[in-house]
Amino acid sequence: MAAANTRTGSWRVAAQATQSAGRPERADLIITRLFEMVDDPLIYALFVRHAIVRPNIIMRVSRVLDLALPYIRSHGGDVELVEVRDNVVYVRLHGSCNGCSLSAVTLRNEIEATLRTNIPEITGVQVVAAEAAPALIMPESIGVRDHLAGWVAGPSTSDVPPGVMYRLQTERDDILIINLDGRLSAFRNACAHQGLPLDDGILDAEAGTITCPWHGFCYDASSGECLTAPQAQLEPFPLRVEQGRIWVRPTRG
Ligand code: FES
Repeated sequence: MAAANTRTGSWRVAAQATQSAGRPERADLIITRLFEMVDDPLIYALFVRHAIVRPNIIMRVSRVLDLALPYIRSHGGDVELVEVRDNVVYVRLHGSCNGCSLSAVTLRNEIEATLRTNIPEITGVQVVAAEAAPALIMPESIGVRDHLAGWVAGPSTSDVPPGVMYRLQTERDDILIINLDGRLSAFRNACAHQGLPLDDGILDAEAGTITCPWHGFCYDASSGECLTAPQAQLEPFPLRVEQGRIWVRPTRG
């Protein structure tokens, strides 16, 4: 758990204020030596323990958060002290509570209760957003048991250069893969007019259209929208490229 290192800051300010107030030289010397001593963590801890010095608010908050850590960690989380401003403690949550609003609320309430019990002047706790961290999300973790389920391996991308239509036939599916200026799309290889195959049709890369070789129905090559009969449409299939291989997931009726 992180905390700002301001332990001796208030001492220095106090000593300087005392010196400027014209105290006798010997008193100045004692104060100077005193705050030199509290630079030593062991001496500082001893002084705090015997109430010779009063830790500043950040140190006190930090210590109370340490008390709450076992509870926070038992919930798979962690807490980082960001700052204390106007008696409000700002923390950042990490671990399983990061991104889970329910856990975050539970922990925030616990932290606030602990802080207010131990430091009465604290009036609230605010959770600041955690910085985004890149993460590899495994398909299994989001309920996808087989990320290849339903997908059909197609040609490599080099087999479908811009301006080319590629017919992919499997036992169950007849698929048309189109590369229009580098944008790949896939459709069922069946014209909306009579269901006849389109792969011998004309792909006009400049106009972005496919024209059916049988009766001339024209389609938008990106969306599959029929430009001849606007109520008709080619059936699009999801397509993805993985390691240079085109994959298509045909819809099964
Ligand atoms: S089957 Fe395509 S236009 Fe008739």
